[in-house]
Amino acid sequence: MRPIKQENAQIQSNTQVGADSFRMRLSCGQHYIRAIPGQFLMVRLTDQIDPLLPRPFSIHRLIQKDDVVDGLEILYKVVGKGTHELSLKQPGEIIDLTGPLGNGFVIPTDVNQIYIAAGGIGVAPMIFLVSTLLAQKYDPEDIQAFIGGKSNTDLLCIEDLINFGVKVHTTTDDGSSGDQCLVTDPLEIAVSEKKPGIIYACGPMEMLACVAGIADHHSVDCQVSIETMMACGMGACLGCAVAGRNDTDSYLHACLDGPVFDTRVLEI
Ligand code: FES
Repeated sequence: MRPIKQENAQIQSNTQVGADSFRMRLSCGQHYIRAIPGQFLMVRLTDQIDPLLPRPFSIHRLIQKDDVVDGLEILYKVVGKGTHELSLKQPGEIIDLTGPLGNGFVIPTDVNQIYIAAGGIGVAPMIFLVSTLLAQKYDPEDIQAFIGGKSNTDLLCIEDLINFGVKVHTTTDDGSSGDQCLVTDPLEIAVSEKKPGIIYACGPMEMLACVAGIADHHSVDCQVSIETMMACGMGACLGCAVAGRNDTDSYLHACLDGPVFDTRVLEI
């Protein structure tokens, strides 16, 4: 079992990177060396009476040199009071951090094409995922990323992905950047033209359902990271239930069984 720790983390930077999106860099313990892409952490503001509840964020990037961890990043969107308060935090302030939590993406040992699909803030875990794939000696030319958003300000991390050397397809609902269509449209075309060994996806549930359908139709392995409300992150509140497909797993919990699932076990 991987170590989970609660700690005081110092904010090193908190930078606005989109219309209502921020990237926060935090100090963290050395135990994150064993974190894997798709895992998450719970953040709680220590100086607030309200909101008391911690919030889940996937690990966006692990900063390390050789085997020494020098911090981590989260990428988040302001969607309510808790994330608004987080966006006001300044370097040097301390927040409460618990992690790494949940499971993560399973990295295949030998596939010839990997497709990654993300909608909006769903791109957050994909930077850690791509950097891990590249560290596992996958060639950037074997990875294609399909990134979608409502508008161009929702398209995050495009430069990062381009700098990794992977091929990036962008789509927006309003046509302000990339193709004006759903992100699953170019994904489906690509899958039809060249079947990948695996698809990884993160984003709204409707998008994940569509990705799962494409994977199922073309018999491609698919792992999705579920975005859901989490009050505890550790199996105590049972508030993160998602429907499973098998009788034995009629309900799964995103914080314990996920947040990454093989789409064959989910009813989406
Ligand atoms: Fe509490 Fe999953 S978040 S049980």
